[in-house]
Amino acid sequence: MAGIEVTALHKRYPDGTVAVDQVDLSIGDGELFVMLGPSGCGKTTTLRAIAGLERQTTGDIRIGDTLVNDLPPAERDIAMVFQFYALYPHLRTRDNLAFPLRAEGLPKAEVRERVEEAARLMRLGPLLDRRPRRLSGGEQQRVALARALVRRPRAFLMDEPLTNLDAELRADMRTEIKHLQGKWGRRWSTSPTTRSRRCRSVTGSPSSTRAASSRSARRWRSTTVRRVFSAPRSSAPRR
Ligand SMILES: Nc1ncnc2c1ncn2[C@@H]1O[C@H](COP(=O)(O)OP(=O)(O)OP(=O)(O)O)[C@@H](O)[C@H]1O
Ligand SMILES: [Mg+2]
Repeated sequence: MAGIEVTALHKRYPDGTVAVDQVDLSIGDGELFVMLGPSGCGKTTTLRAIAGLERQTTGDIRIGDTLVNDLPPAERDIAMVFQFYALYPHLRTRDNLAFPLRAEGLPKAEVRERVEEAARLMRLGPLLDRRPRRLSGGEQQRVALARALVRRPRAFLMDEPLTNLDAELRADMRTEIKHLQGKWGRRWSTSPTTRSRRCRSVTGSPSSTRAASSRSARRWRSTTVRRVFSAPRSSAPRR
């Protein structure tokens, strides 16, 4: 297990938009790390670059001791959960969860055990035999979270994973995420959009979590979540 190091990350899309400009991030092993900033400041682009879904224009990304710039997503051993969950519509919940494990060729008993554990943690027991179209948005989001958990990757990247949950479930899920983070000691990186209650919804305990906040793609400051709450500054993008 090791950290994630992002050095001078720069992403210019083909239309000329600079989404991320010379960003440095250092995420420690086992750390819950939150990126905070207004819409369009480059949170999703940064996460997608770390996951290997988007190629950066320049800059380096290291996971552990490995420079992963040229590694495809599958070889980075990272799970990413999106705000807009992408479940297989024709598969029941239990098969959506089992899918990545079967693809890895894990033994049946191990697949069953991991699926049951994730279903228990995400309160999916009664929903295991339903297909996505018979699940609410929040339930689908819990399935997407559970599908990331079953893989037990080296790190989780979550892009506003709790946005679609109601307040009570959000509170439950943030407790579970903190619990799992402590139990597995993997890195978590997550990006709620604004300095609002949504930030609290991911981190649970503001004081125990490190954060980077940004007003634009150009300036990320390391801080703590408590500081963001106690001394908020304007979150207007500098553009
Ligand atoms: N494929 C693309 N082509 C061109 N520009 C893009 C593309 N994807 C994103 N952008 C731009 O890059 C910038 C950063 O986008 P990104 O999605 O990373 O922001 P974000 O911080 O995740 O925003 P939000 O909080 O709304 O999810 C924005 O100006 C956006 O319009
Ligand atoms: Mg985003």
